[in-house]
Amino acid sequence: MPDDQSRNISADAHRRAMAHCEPGLYEYQLEATLLHTFVDSGARETAYPTIIGSGRNAFVMHYCSNRAQLKAGDLVLVDAGCEYRGYVADITRSYPVSGRFSGAQRALYDIVLAAQQAAIDQVRAGNHWNDPHSASVEVITRGLVDLGLLRGEVHGLIETGDYQHFYMHRVGHWLGMGVHDVGDYRVHGAWRQLEVGMAMTVEPGVYVPADDERIPVDFRGIGIRIEDDVALTRDGVQVLSAAAPRAVAEIEYTMRHGGDLMTR
Ligand code: GLY
Ligand code: MN
Ligand code: MN
Repeated sequence: MPDDQSRNISADAHRRAMAHCEPGLYEYQLEATLLHTFVDSGARETAYPTIIGSGRNAFVMHYCSNRAQLKAGDLVLVDAGCEYRGYVADITRSYPVSGRFSGAQRALYDIVLAAQQAAIDQVRAGNHWNDPHSASVEVITRGLVDLGLLRGEVHGLIETGDYQHFYMHRVGHWLGMGVHDVGDYRVHGAWRQLEVGMAMTVEPGVYVPADDERIPVDFRGIGIRIEDDVALTRDGVQVLSAAAPRAVAEIEYTMRHGGDLMTR
């Protein structure tokens, strides 16, 4: 299970990067904020190359050139975590460069957030590895149908794989001493059962093609992923990275008022 400190340091670094973000900065300047927090906290190594993808760079799965300038109106996707005492964190947040989500960005963000919660709710002893993924696919497909970005019947769109036009990766992977930690996902051909003590990421995303003319302009080119680290404990699922602001209101608050924690 990821060390307590690695996830707190990484969540803190995300909060500070969010508070620092503004139009005109370069992606590498957000990276610098994250790295400063890691090292300043005693975590001298990142868990993997830090991804700061603004605008369409969010679509590039392992983007790490981090050289573009942040533009008002765009979202920025920040996928970063540190290693501490041998354990790693892997956290993604997506937020508006200017500090305020547009209507279209917010509508999509809330779908991804609901998909993530549905997936987290499936992380239970006795469920199998694919249950969280299936839950995320269902919520995203339904959400995109409701918004009119996908046309058809939800289960049909899932069966044909048409939802993959917008959501083309799995919901997560094992996490621990490595970012994609060792471990089987299937046993004798069947999805592996979830057990107490397992740790994994839950990271659904929606990536709306920029060049698809059937899609309303406001939605085109938006890429959002929300990634948290969870552990299955005797008391149920625990979100290890919960200290990184995640809901729209928490993100906008953090961006407006700085890195201080929001009182709820
Ligand atoms: N940061 C790598 C991953 O999310 O899998
Ligand atoms: Mn991951
Ligand atoms: Mn990640």
